[in-house]
Formats: sequence, C-alpha cells, structure tokens
Amino acid sequence: MPADTLPAPAPDDARERVVELRRRITYHEHRYYVLDDPEIGDGEFDALLRELERFEAEHPELVTPDSPSQRVGGAPRDGVEKAPHSSAMLSLGNAFDDADLRDFDRRAREALGADVLDYVGELKLDGVSMAVRYGAGRIVVALTRGDGEHGEVITPNARTLRSLPLAIPGAALERSGLPYDFEVRGEVVMPKEAFALLNERQRAGDRTTYANPRNAAAGSIRMLDPSATASRRLDFYPYFLLAGGVPVYDSHWASLEALAAVGFKVNRHRARLRGVDEVLAFRDDCMRRREELPYEIDGVVFKLDSTASWRRVGATSKSPRWAIATKPAAGQAETVVEGIDVQVGRTGAITPRALLRPVEVRGVTVSRATLHNADEIARLGLRIGDRVIVERSGDVIPKIVRVVAEGADRRPFRMPVACPNCASPVVREAEEVVVRCVNVSCPARLKESILHFARRTAMDIDGLGEWLVDTLVAEGRVKDFADLYALAVEDLAPLTKVTKVSPTRLGEKAAARVVAGLERSKQAPLARLVYGLGIRHVGERTAELLAERFRGLDDLAAASPDELEGVEGVGPRMAESIRAFFDAARNRELIARLRERGVKPLAVEAPSAPAAVPSPVHGKTFVLTGTLQRMTRSQAGGRIRALGGTVTSSVSRKTDYVVAGESPGSKLDRARALAVEVLDEAGLQALLGSEGGEAGDEA
Ligand code: IVH
Repeated sequence: MPADTLPAPAPDDARERVVELRRRITYHEHRYYVLDDPEIGDGEFDALLRELERFEAEHPELVTPDSPSQRVGGAPRDGVEKAPHSSAMLSLGNAFDDADLRDFDRRAREALGADVLDYVGELKLDGVSMAVRYGAGRIVVALTRGDGEHGEVITPNARTLRSLPLAIPGAALERSGLPYDFEVRGEVVMPKEAFALLNERQRAGDRTTYANPRNAAAGSIRMLDPSATASRRLDFYPYFLLAGGVPVYDSHWASLEALAAVGFKVNRHRARLRGVDEVLAFRDDCMRRREELPYEIDGVVFKLDSTASWRRVGATSKSPRWAIATKPAAGQAETVVEGIDVQVGRTGAITPRALLRPVEVRGVTVSRATLHNADEIARLGLRIGDRVIVERSGDVIPKIVRVVAEGADRRPFRMPVACPNCASPVVREAEEVVVRCVNVSCPARLKESILHFARRTAMDIDGLGEWLVDTLVAEGRVKDFADLYALAVEDLAPLTKVTKVSPTRLGEKAAARVVAGLERSKQAPLARLVYGLGIRHVGERTAELLAERFRGLDDLAAASPDELEGVEGVGPRMAESIRAFFDAARNRELIARLRERGVKPLAVEAPSAPAAVPSPVHGKTFVLTGTLQRMTRSQAGGRIRALGGTVTSSVSRKTDYVVAGESPGSKLDRARALAVEVLDEAGLQALLGSEGGEAGDEA
C-alpha cells in the first residue's frame, strides 16, 4: 500500500486515552466479574466502554485483540482447527468413599516416604476444561481438552469470557514471579442462574434446551460464532498452572495464589490441608454446601501441594497419581421396567414414564423414571420388560441411563394417538419431539395447571396437593384458578381420598390449612402470580423481571411486544406468547374473576412512586444464607423484592444486609470480614414488617 493511503497516525493523546480507558475497564471488569465486588454502576461502566469504542472507531489502528472492546466476539470461525497440547491433558482418578481416599494417601506417602502429606482441596467444577496459553502476558491460544493430546482452537471464544484476563501487565507478572509465557488450565462453567435463563431463552425461541449446565458450557464455548459465546454467561476458573509443560512453583497453593494475584478467578472454596483426616473433613464440608453454590460441582479434588512430589509419584497413562477426585455417592441401581405409562402436562405435552420394579437408590425407593419422549425411548432401545440402570442425581426426577439386558418377553411401547385422559387426538408439531393433547380444557391439563399455580415457587398454596386437585377437577368444582378462591372449609373437609388401605377424609384441620394458604396467596408478589398463570415460555426468573418492569398485571397485560422485548431474556417468541395470553378473552375474564375474588398481587414499587410509608427494605440489597425456619429462602427473597429490595447471591461492600439462617455458609464469614450488617430470621421479619407474613403455621 502506498504510504499516502495509510491512515493518519493516531495523535498521542488519543493513544494515551485509549490506554487509560483500557486500564480502567480492565480494572472494573476484574472487580465485577472476578471479585464479585463492583465499585461503579453498570451505567458508568458502559460509558467507559462506549468511549473506548468511539476512540477505536476513529483510530482503527489502535484496536488490538486484547482490547476489552473485543469481548463481544469477532468474525465466525470457518471451521474446526486443532492444535497439540503442551503436555497431555489428563483426567482424574476417582475415590468413591473414605477407604479410597485413605488408600490414595497411603500410596502417596509410601512413594514419597513421608508420614504425613500436605494437600490442596478444590471443588470439582462441573463444566468443560480449557487450556489457555499466554505469551508476553497476552492470550495467544485457547484450546479445548479434545482427546487430551490435541484440542480444538477456540481462542476468539475464550476472549469473550469476562473472567479471563485478556492481558496481564508486565509489572503484575513480575510481582508474582510468573514467567511472561505460561499456560493456565481450568474449567469453563455456566452458573446455575445463567443456565436457567439460557434455557428459558432457548424455549422461547423454540430452540432445543440444554440438559444441564455442563452441556450448556460445552456447547457455548465451542460455538463457531464467538459473538454467540459472548452472549452466554460463562466463567473460567483456573486450577493448574504450567510453563514449558511443567509446574512453575514448588507449591500448587502458591500457583493458585499467583494466578489470583494477576487477575484470574481462582475458586474461593479451596484449602490447604494436612493429612487425610483434614481431606475427609473438607470433602464433607464442600458436599454439604453444594446446593448453595451458584454453579454445579460433581465432587472435590485433592492435589499434593508439593509439585516436586508430582514428578516423583508420576502418572498412569490416564491420570496423575498426585491428584484424585471424590465422586458423590453412586446414584445408580439396576432394576426392571415393568410398564410404561404417559402423563399429560399443563401445556398438553404427553410424557412417557417408566414404571419400575421398586429399587433403592441412595436411600430413596425409586419406582418411576422419566422417559421424556418417544425419541428418548428409541435412543435407549428400551422395551417393556428390559433390565435397566436408573440414576438419581441431586433432587431431579430419576432417569434411565441404559438398558443392561433385554427382557425375555419384551414388548415395545407405542405413544398413544389419543389423550389418555380426555380421548382428544394428540398432535406432534413440526420439528418438535413432544406430542401434545390439543384440548385446552382437558382435565389432566387443568389439573397440572392448578398444581403449577399452587406450587411453592408460584402462589405457594399450602396443602393443595395432587389428589385434592385431582378430586376438585374430577368433580367439576374447579374449572379454573379463580374457582379455587370460592372454596370454603365446609366444601373441602368432607372430600375423601380413596387409598388401598381405607378411605380418609381430608378433615377440618387440613381443609383450614388449604383455605388459609389460598387467603395468603391473594397477596403474593406479582412475579409469582405471573409465573403461576403458566404463560407458555415464561419461567420463574422471567416472571420476576417482568414484574420488576411492569408494576401491575394491568400494565403487563397492556404492554406492547416492543415494551416486552425491552425486558432481559424476553425475545420475540416470548413476547408473542405473553401477548397471545393476555389477548385471549378467556384469560382476561379469568384475571377479572381472580381480582373479584380478592387476588391482589403485591407489585414492586417503582422508585419514582414510593409507598406512602416506604418499607425499610426498599432500595436495600440482601444476601440470604443458611436455612430459615418460618419461610424458605425463595419466599424470603420474594417478599424482599416485593417491598422494593434486591436479593443477590454474593456478599460485597454494596450488600446492606446478610440474613443468616441455620448452618450459614461462607457468606457469613465474608459479611463479617466486610463489616456488613448480619440479621437473623427475626431481624428480617422485623424489617419485612406486617407484609412479612408468616408461613405455614395457621393450621
Ligand atoms: S485437575 C491432571 N482440578 O475434572 C489433573 N480438574 O477428570 C487435571 N475439573 O478434565 C485436572 N475441577 O475438567 C482439576 N479443581 C479441578 C477441577 C478439575 C473440575 C475437571 C477437569 C478434568 C476433570 C478430571
């Protein structure tokens, strides 16, 4: 190119401003995405980023791949490129119980001739591993694990991960003693909340949903279009540091500290442990806190702290002898599929379900397992009579993992062509794997809708369980949600549940509990009503965001598709579904009848229109930890939000209150460290005032 067509060189002040903006943006990204402790608001941050983008647009020669403006992802990759790892990416051996861990420790002690060994305990994050090489402090290449020897090049995708530093200043490297060229390996994870939102969005766009956060992380990090990766919330937690294929420091703990010091998001749940007893205690502690973590884990990892000993104990072809992973207690068992029936859900979806010969899995007797749809049955190659492996993990519905032996007189299952409940024809929509009953007034659908309306995360109507709803629907007493509010104790008490043993009356006490639950639900937060209505594609989190944006049901019902799409997570399909719901005359009538019967959801007050006497909760930020006695954390959160407060998952200087129930987690320690005010449950009740209500002791 002739010299005179080159862009004019950037004036020095533009260059300086760009450098300064990048420094500040990088600093605030680190505060927000790595430390969970932002110093400035989103608006201020966006202004910095916009200013940088403006400068870069005017001076394109100043754009570099490690500019924070490049986090949005660049041009799509045009194919899959592979590259070799600097050293094999091994996997970890498993310890299933205490004996396995003691065995691991004994073998290491014998190999090293030591009486006691120091370990580092870390969480085993349930995501996908990634190796990132830095040269002169900047990302050079990022690879997936691949087959352990070669990985897929995903550098542009990795750059979109906000918690992964794009460039590390030389001074920081020198301070921590890190070489300029190094490699970090770690786990890419999708937080549980981001996973739930992503699936809501996928559903709204009629795209396939992900089975779990691990699959979502794996799918998201490998997208051909990095800007698609950028739109997914992924985190990167490093757990391994090397340079030239070998560890950098003598101690693994020191490696993690150095990584944290130069800006990586090293998981906080880590500990230096002396001897196998401390190892066992750390494992138990982590597994107990598992549910409160914002991401999924599938065990705990222990590594010998001394990296010199890594060389001495060595590795097998598959896994190192200096590290081991614990596996949560095996959740599988073998049994026989004795039959398959189908259930009709509230959207009319017909789901096959395996009826199992009862078997105990991790202390619980399992006699049913979900089969999702006909494609899943075909994939498993399952027929009635086959021997199978069932699995229970966490609180999810048990599922069938595989067929282990075909039954002698096995028979195939066919999806019904008519609804088993109302005999209406069923349809399979184009490109959907589900079949649905088309009858909107199908009693099975009505029953499921009411159970959904009553569930804890929706209107939270105590005592309105399965058989009661079944009976109310079968007897024609309840034809929609509004009919529930006409029920009196005298109507409910005589209802009789027929069991194999003997018929039992519901009775006055239980009936009174249901009526009290209904009464209380009349003032449920708006978000819960919106969720409970069962608008197609609207999940719990979206309902909350909608309730924050629209102050009442009338505002929501009147919102235009554009206004709806202004809410996070609401795309065109969801907006259309919300509009269709409120446009339907029968739904408008339903809402009018709910209102006549006294259902007045508590709206979140907009800041511009505070309540006559503003609640002390208004505008405050809360973090909830531990088990509360009188309400669940989710109920407490709902009440705080209904009064204009915010609930977040991690404690920072911006947190106003930490509410600590029984067995609080590390959040309490952090609250104390940051001198954040700590409330017990009674303290929270006092702040919530009369609106706080009381859960579940009226009967
Ligand atoms: S260390 C050679 N530490 O678990 C040791 N792995 O089968 C390399 N993982 O592929 C792994 N959390 O994806 C290590 N704190 C942790 C981990 C962890 C999750 C994953 C990793 C690896 C698999 C081991």
